[in-house]
Amino acid sequence: MSLLITNIGELTTNDPELGILRDAAMVVGERVEWVGPAAAAPAADERVDVRGAAVLPGFVDSHSHLVFAGDRAPEFAARMAGEPYTGGGIRTTVAATRAATDDQLRANVARLVGEALRQGTTTIEIKSGYGLSTLDEARSVRIASEFTDEVTFLGAHVTPADSPDGYVDLVTGPMLDACAKYAGWVDVFCERGAFDVAESRRVLKAGIAAGLRPRIHANQLTMGGGVQLAVELDCASADHCTHLSDADVDALANSDTVATLLPGAEFSTRAPYPDARRLLAAGVTVALASDCNPGSSYTSSMPFCIALAVRDMFMTPTEAVWAATAGGARALRRPDLGHLAPGASADLIVLDAPSHLHLAYRPGVPLIASVARKGTFTS
Ligand code: NIG
Ligand code: FE
Repeated sequence: MSLLITNIGELTTNDPELGILRDAAMVVGERVEWVGPAAAAPAADERVDVRGAAVLPGFVDSHSHLVFAGDRAPEFAARMAGEPYTGGGIRTTVAATRAATDDQLRANVARLVGEALRQGTTTIEIKSGYGLSTLDEARSVRIASEFTDEVTFLGAHVTPADSPDGYVDLVTGPMLDACAKYAGWVDVFCERGAFDVAESRRVLKAGIAAGLRPRIHANQLTMGGGVQLAVELDCASADHCTHLSDADVDALANSDTVATLLPGAEFSTRAPYPDARRLLAAGVTVALASDCNPGSSYTSSMPFCIALAVRDMFMTPTEAVWAATAGGARALRRPDLGHLAPGASADLIVLDAPSHLHLAYRPGVPLIASVARKGTFTS
């Protein structure tokens, strides 16, 4: 079954040759089959007229923590009154998550994945990290795998309060053994108060030996060695990148590691934003993701992250949209996603607006008119 989408006012392909097309059309099956001027469109089994709307690739949210129970609204309110964010609240969510049933966790993931999809997210990476026991991490990655192909084992989120001794041995041993079959990625929170560089290296190397690919929470709260470790181990992505030295920026620029920026976290912790312009000027590949979690960034909205990236991180609207689509795809090493050239997965958004610029220009407005995954419209 092929579908002709025609009368596209502005088509953002993210393809270096095709660029942004006006008065365009596309033919899709599960993959994009044809893209070009509306006047030259071939026939297809079905046809939809989007009446001049903008079309762009679906958002690829390459960083979220959706398997949890409860929330931390009081912690947020305290931060807005001046309290700092330390990551210490993670243990509050661990207690709530351990106390929840599988069905309660599943329902929460379903709610958030649905919320994200309605806001244009067609691919979402989901991490564990609020279980911190073999049993609770294993059920977290198992439940995540019911919702996405991009599951990340984050047993090394923080050390659990109840069993700190030998925790890295557990994460790199029995816990990894129980989780690896449900995950494609391994992650670690490399930060003061979480795991140091040597521990993080152990966690990621053990994951790699178990067949997982590495990514990392790096340089979020302090200028540690996380980014250098990311490059050393060819992590697909170094996430946060808020505090970077010149050597960190150089290392990223000379690597295949994407810098994934999470402006929802700086917004919700009232912390300084990462310096996106410095990274872009150095030639680093930049992705934007939501970091959706109940502590530091309780938003599932990629349009909100785009608006923040433009307003507060000085990215252009076009750079921000690229980072939220093609950038996320690179952060997940998924060449089939994040662009709309022939052969790409037909994951796309139709906007209730004439241009992708409106995503940042009209913040907080529900501009996602409809979303298709693998060529099928979900609404
Ligand atoms: O990416 N920094 C570590 N992990 C999450 C926050 C988790 C939480 O506060 O519950 C993050 O920001
Ligand atoms: Fe995170």
